[in-house]
Amino acid sequence: MKDLRIDYSRATDFFGAHELEEMAPITEWAAERLRNGQGPGSDFIGWLDWPIQDERQEMDRILACARRIQAHSEVLVVVGIGGSYLGTKAALSFLEPAFDWMNQGKKRKFPQVLFAGTQLSGSYHKQLLEALEGRDFSVNMISKSGTTTEPAIAFRALRRMLEERYGAEGAKERIIATTDANKGALRGLADEKGYETFVVPDDIGGRFSVLTAVGLLPMAVAGLDVEAMMDGAVQMRERCLLPFGENPALQYAALRNIFLRKGKAIELLTYYEPGLQYLAEWWKQLYGESEGKDQRGVFPASAGFTTDLHSMGQYIQDGRRHIFETVMLIDDFQEDLPISEVEGNPDGLNYLAGKTLNYVNAMAAEGTLQAHTEGGVPNLLIHLPDMTETSLGALFYFFEKACGVSGLMLGVNPFDQPGVEAYKKNMFRLLGKPGA
Ligand code: PA5
Repeated sequence: MKDLRIDYSRATDFFGAHELEEMAPITEWAAERLRNGQGPGSDFIGWLDWPIQDERQEMDRILACARRIQAHSEVLVVVGIGGSYLGTKAALSFLEPAFDWMNQGKKRKFPQVLFAGTQLSGSYHKQLLEALEGRDFSVNMISKSGTTTEPAIAFRALRRMLEERYGAEGAKERIIATTDANKGALRGLADEKGYETFVVPDDIGGRFSVLTAVGLLPMAVAGLDVEAMMDGAVQMRERCLLPFGENPALQYAALRNIFLRKGKAIELLTYYEPGLQYLAEWWKQLYGESEGKDQRGVFPASAGFTTDLHSMGQYIQDGRRHIFETVMLIDDFQEDLPISEVEGNPDGLNYLAGKTLNYVNAMAAEGTLQAHTEGGVPNLLIHLPDMTETSLGALFYFFEKACGVSGLMLGVNPFDQPGVEAYKKNMFRLLGKPGA
């Protein structure tokens, strides 16, 4: 496997070599505290060694369950919010062919994965139920706490639909619950109804759970090679134990803290492949929820290029200088489209004849990189070798490790999310929830 690599050579005009040298021991110290469970939130570091431990024992059951769903269902509805769905969404958008959703019925090799409970829209959920009429479907209800309102409401409606259509026994065959081993309303319901269950480990928080059954089961149902994904994570875990100079996660954590200290409070994660859109959404939750506390943290934002160069480009180039950019680039593509010669050259594009779209995209990336750095925006580059499961597993682990380290460098607990409760309290009071 070729390696993911971080390249900060395009950001060196914005910091001195001595600054990175100074930051290296601080970063290694934070990584050591993370590993040894000495930092805040140390009850939630189970994800650090997860790829080399428990999930391997669970893998056979995940794959068997995925095959069972594939055998009887055209659709799998993943019900969950935040860390309970974003990793799966990121993987599907990265690995599935862009127009796979157009294939229905016999044209599909694997069930289509749809999402519910990711918000509270009445029209979205009504339309989802309508779309499921006449389609064989299963539901994977995912909630670590088992009490989150958005997925709980969606699950109520989907469970009812399954029970009306297939009866209690048939519904039981089509509902899989991924939740806490012992606690929460979903655990109680799953035990009572006899659903197959997968456990979200106690020591792994929602946004760090993509490589557990939370992400792996729905990805396996969709036909993704989840074993290769875990292999990628295992390899990246090894690299993330190396000293600073060879460790991409520590370098990334150090650089984003250097920029933050210089007043670059916004990190814009950018990409030139639309398949990375939801990876960026997953990353935003990971970093936003982990670092944004005690009035600290880098604000994580994202933009998809070249699309957003036509909307956000002006601000990035020339607006307030509080941004640094982390650019995700893919080194090797399996597919490309050549540009043909047209007689008479009516659109003036014949100078590109014989070139390919990926070549033009790469030149757009280079041109943007030059423009943004000249405009005062430091650019860090993350090179992904390709768009495969192995690379994605490595990328997930890389970002998680860097996030844990970076959070400890900031002096916050990277593994809690007390601020998320504020809107819930008000919502429950307004809804008249008993005891709210
Ligand atoms: O990272 C987290 O723990 C949260 O963002 C959760 O993923 C999200 O709130 C969903 O929680 P749950 O899985 O308990 O329904």
